[in-house]
Amino acid sequence: MGKTKSKFVCQQCGYESAKWMGRCPGCSEWNTMVEEREEKEEKRWLSHRMEKPIPFNEVKGETAPRIQIGFRELDRVLGGGIVPGSFTLVGGDPGIGKSTLLLQATHQFAREGRKVLYVSGEESPAQIRLRGERLGIKNENLFLMAETNVETIIEEAKKLKPTLVIIDSIQTMFLPEISSAPGSVSQVRETAAALLRFTKREEIATILVGHVTKQGEIAGPRILEHMVDTVLYFEGEAHHTYRILRTVKNRFGPTHEMGVFEMKEKGLVEVQNPSELFLSERSLAAAGASITATMEGTRPILVEIQALLSPTLFPTPRRVATGLDYNRVAMILAVLEKRAGILLGSQDAYVNVVGGMRLNDPAADLAIALSLVSSYRDRPIPYHDLLIGEVGLTGEIRGVPRVEQRIQEAYQMGIKRVILPRINLQGIEFPGEMKVSAVETLTEAIDEVLGR
Ligand code: TYD
Ligand code: MG
Repeated sequence: MGKTKSKFVCQQCGYESAKWMGRCPGCSEWNTMVEEREEKEEKRWLSHRMEKPIPFNEVKGETAPRIQIGFRELDRVLGGGIVPGSFTLVGGDPGIGKSTLLLQATHQFAREGRKVLYVSGEESPAQIRLRGERLGIKNENLFLMAETNVETIIEEAKKLKPTLVIIDSIQTMFLPEISSAPGSVSQVRETAAALLRFTKREEIATILVGHVTKQGEIAGPRILEHMVDTVLYFEGEAHHTYRILRTVKNRFGPTHEMGVFEMKEKGLVEVQNPSELFLSERSLAAAGASITATMEGTRPILVEIQALLSPTLFPTPRRVATGLDYNRVAMILAVLEKRAGILLGSQDAYVNVVGGMRLNDPAADLAIALSLVSSYRDRPIPYHDLLIGEVGLTGEIRGVPRVEQRIQEAYQMGIKRVILPRINLQGIEFPGEMKVSAVETLTEAIDEVLGR
């Protein structure tokens, strides 16, 4: 037992230093270093550790039997259900609907006769009940607990023996032996570590709720991402009712999987066909709009990409990308200038993914590029066209994975023609009367879709 020392910990990323710094060297955020007392010795986090090395062949394989929650979109995102003994983090902005989602999930889960413990450090059981009643929840296997002391929670959970424990939220939890306030990096890390040990030992599935704030006042659940088995993010735009649940990390299944919900009066409703939702407000034949098929995990989703170009009033043009990576859009603008000879230097450019989706799939490049050209020329892209392809720096259209799945989804959504990278033509079967245009360069694609 050494004596307690002081250290400074970044509340954003968990970077530690012996002296205070105005700017965290770890994440470059300002004013995030807070003094915390160092605790005696490092605790062991790994709960399923083994005493000595054992031969690979003799390790007992865990088959990870999944338990379906019964909330389909959530089960999909988890990789087909929740694994007993798994430790999951659900992160998201405050007010996005995390508590609502999990309360609804616990209801589904408890209906099958399994016990669920819902621990809230933010609301009283009366408040949760009130909300639950509005959501139509009535269940004798669902147990509520308003508590923030993790030791008490673990003690009670040991007695109750639930199959699933929800901790809402990790930022409100504390361990009495740690001096810093709930929500500080030390508390978040240590309470999570205690819950992790408990989860693994008792083979109970635990879901932590973590608020993400941009200011970094509360310890971002970023530091938890390394500890948990699965990280889900719940996102959505404040002015939209759609909510998207994404897998960022999953030790038991695929990542980048997503589930789509709509926040309604009576809670979250699963959206069975996201493409339909994202295309529901399309306007007929507007210049600057195009459709692409993005792969979100194993699922293809059709989205509309809109672009607007307008003459710049200032020396440097504005470039705004919503739902897309800014640098990606900047690159596409540069390729359009240099390789397709479309001079956009005097134009402000706005690019937007309709419906509040966020795209990372490079297959959307071609749709971004053509939406920009379509707006610039004020000439609409044919309404039933689908554009897929990655744009390379030399203006070439590069192949993308899972073309068949994307096209199948597009066909179901009434797409009549697909413009795709030539390399993707090989070995693909096209449904029915779908027309196909294979392109090799950006110029070729522009000519094909918008004419010369
Ligand atoms: P909540 O689950 O409390 O968010 P979080 O736990 O992520 O902070 O959701 C709060 C918002 O959801 C609140 O603005 C009201 C809205 N909401 C509905 O629109 N319908 C509902 O049935 C419920 C329960 C909440
Ligand atoms: Mg909440």
